[in-house]
Amino acid sequence: MDDLRDKYLTRIAGAADETALEDLRLAAVGKKGEVSLKMRELGKMTPEERQVAGPMLNALKDEINSALAAKKVALEDAALDARLADEWLDVTLPARDRPQGTIHPVSQVTEEVTAILADMGFAVAEGPQIEDDWHNFDALNIPSHHPARTEMDTFYMARKEGDNRPPHVLRTHTSPVQIRSMLDQGAPIRIICPGRVYRADYDQTHTPMFHQVEGLAIDKDISMANLKWVLEEFFSAFFGTKVKTRFRASHFPFTEPSAEVDIQCSFEGGTVKVGEGDSWLEVLGSGMVHPKVLEAGGIDPAEWQGFAFGMGIDRMAMLKYGIPDLRAFFDSDLRWLRHYGFSALQVPTLHGGL
Ligand code: DAH
Repeated sequence: MDDLRDKYLTRIAGAADETALEDLRLAAVGKKGEVSLKMRELGKMTPEERQVAGPMLNALKDEINSALAAKKVALEDAALDARLADEWLDVTLPARDRPQGTIHPVSQVTEEVTAILADMGFAVAEGPQIEDDWHNFDALNIPSHHPARTEMDTFYMARKEGDNRPPHVLRTHTSPVQIRSMLDQGAPIRIICPGRVYRADYDQTHTPMFHQVEGLAIDKDISMANLKWVLEEFFSAFFGTKVKTRFRASHFPFTEPSAEVDIQCSFEGGTVKVGEGDSWLEVLGSGMVHPKVLEAGGIDPAEWQGFAFGMGIDRMAMLKYGIPDLRAFFDSDLRWLRHYGFSALQVPTLHGGL
């Protein structure tokens, strides 16, 4: 019996897990366990022998059972400790860095321009970037022989061989949206169209893709004076300071009369400052919408008239935020984007400030 006790108590103490412990239980005190078999032998003993062996076997069985129970608790505790150690979480650790994007200056300025002009009652209109030549040229009074077609360094889409229709173009300006909006909405109309435009051109101030915003206001009595007021209000709000404008007579096929608009600036110390000094910087083209353009847009020029303008958004961003090279806008250099980018949480609004 001492051998049995030693054997099982040692093995129980060394059991690695609950399965091993259960095997030991069966081997010792299970139905066919060694201790159980010994207890069956009691029947064959003399009453005197039984009186001695019976209590000893019962005591051994109890001892083994309580050793099993104690070991079971110990194993469960150890398992819980291991889990606690394993799943421990330090809630005081600083949070992991998450890459945070910024708003591109072009998007920022588009929002700013839109906020200002929306406040004056202009709705945002859109058109396709792949445009047919009627909308991009003819409807805007630029016939096929017109020099403006080549001056604009147009990108042409390919046509299938044998298809002699004029090819589609990547729109060279946002002006075709004037036509689309007039045809869609009729007069009166007051829209702006910010968007991408394309020309085969590349240097410090030109990229093959860039951004313009088009403006169009048509009503019964709209004049150049309204145009001038809108633009002066716009520039002052945009630059946050009173900005003088200078209208220079010019020529665009889609306006008559036409004017190029300069804003007051200084060039001192190698930087451009808008709203001071006595230099001028050309920033947009504009004029009174040509009667032929109104007609192409399905609007009767005998009844309606209005102004239009087209302005470079990237140019505005360079001026306002002091960015010297346009090409860097589209290089996707993270250092540049972090430096010139804007917080996504600061949406430009008139009341919140631009
Ligand atoms: N579409 C012209 C360009 O891309 C800009 C322009 C000039 C737009 C005069 C206008 C305008 O609406 O009236 O150079």
